[in-house]
This record gives sequence, structure tokens and C-alpha cells, in this order.
Amino acid sequence: MEEVPKTIIPCHIAVIMDGNGRWAAKRHMPRSYGHQQGSKAVERFCEDAYHLGVKYVTVYAFSTENWSRPKEEIDTLMGLLRDFLKECIKKSKKNNMRVRILGDVARLDRDLQFRIAELTEKTKDYDGLQFQVALNYGGRDEILRAVKKTVAAVQNGTLTIDEITPESFQRFFDSTEIPDPDLIIRTSGEQRLSNFLLWQSAYSEFYFTDVLWPDFNKKELEKAIEYYGKRERRFGGV
Ligand code: FPP
Repeated sequence: MEEVPKTIIPCHIAVIMDGNGRWAAKRHMPRSYGHQQGSKAVERFCEDAYHLGVKYVTVYAFSTENWSRPKEEIDTLMGLLRDFLKECIKKSKKNNMRVRILGDVARLDRDLQFRIAELTEKTKDYDGLQFQVALNYGGRDEILRAVKKTVAAVQNGTLTIDEITPESFQRFFDSTEIPDPDLIIRTSGEQRLSNFLLWQSAYSEFYFTDVLWPDFNKKELEKAIEYYGKRERRFGGV
């Protein structure tokens, strides 16, 4: 078996899973097929990342901007997410995996909201992989919701203006208690953050690859981790 070179393993990897549509188009298949294969790639990614020693994985599954896609595609994505979350209930027990959702779930269908609440509750004590799915998520939206909660806390007297610090502000984030991502991977050649984890990515390292998401396998993950291992992390100054 091929040896993976010893390297520093990021504690938290966040992924912008891009290129499902192009992957399908290259095969003369509908976009929905690309999303299906993308969904399978998420499962493999979680297993591989965990086996390599990664503790937290966050995937960008549906952004606040994705609602502008054709209805048929939104329905496909929601259907896949429904099935995926259902599977997660079984898998999380077997693998001791905690699942949390980042994003404004209030806009999702009631059954999805129910499934999310159930999954979050049932897995809250599992201490294996800590897996976050960003769903109806936007970094600006998360910051704005945290601002509103901060203002409400000041208005009701539970927080003073002087007590507003990065730490107290972050407590109102969907990602509260989750460490900031050490490494953000974006597939398919695009080099943008696209409203993902805007606050949390302040000191993240970035890895961009031309590989399309459904093709992102363990070898590609190892390459990303190796790249990360060679970076000199800076948390202050430049
Ligand atoms: C971008 O590909 C990807 C998405 C819009 C969302 C990612 C969704 C999945 C991987 C499937 C469902 C997720 C889970 C967690 C079950 P794109 O359609 O923009 O690709 P393109 O840029 O090639 O058109």
C-alpha cells in the first residue's frame, strides 16, 4: 500500500463542491446526474477525511444564492439532501458522527426542518467526525442574523455594547463552537469564496483545484492536505 507522507493534518476542512454540472455535461448527462454523483462524493470525502485524521468537515451544499437556479434543479438538490440526511441518521450512529446544519433552515420545507432537528438532536453527543452541512447558507446572511441577535441582546439588557467582542458576537453564529476552517478547498477551477464562511475564513488556507467535485477522491484530498502541510500558518499580522 502506498505510504502517505507524514504531514500536518488540518483539524477542520471546509469544501466548496463545484463542478457537478460540468462533470455531467462532459458525459452528455443531465445536471441532476452530476449532483447525484456529487452527493456520493460527499460520503466518500467524509470517510476519507476522517480516516486521515480530520476532525471537522463542512460542505457547502446549498447557498442562499442557489434559489435562483431553475426549479427543477432546486427540487433535485433538495431531494438529494433529503435522502442524504436520512442516510446520515443511520451512518452517524454507526460512525459516531455528529451532524450540524449551518444556514437559515426556516426557509426549507417542513419535513426537511423536522429531519434536521431530529438529526442534530440524535447526534449531539457523538464525538467522531464533526460534520457540518451548509444548507440555505450565506456568509453575509449568517453575519446579518448574528447582528440582529446581538442588537436584540443589547435591547433586552443581556449584553452591553462594551461586551460586544469577536467572541461574544460569534456566539450568535450558526457555527458557534465549531473551530474556524484551517483549509478551504474549492474544486472545478473557480477561485472565489462565493459567500462561504466569510467571517470564519479570516485565517484559512485555500486550495484550488481544476478537478470537478464528483472526481475529487482520496488522492486529491491527500494532495490538498500535503499542500496545507507546506503552508506556514499565520494568525496575526499578514
Ligand atoms: C456546484 O456544482 C454544486 C452545488 C450547487 C451544490 C453541491 C451539491 C451536491 C454535491 C449534492 C448534494 C449535496 C449533499 C450534501 C447531499 P454546479 O452545479 O454549480 O456545477 P457547475 O459549476 O459545473 O455547473
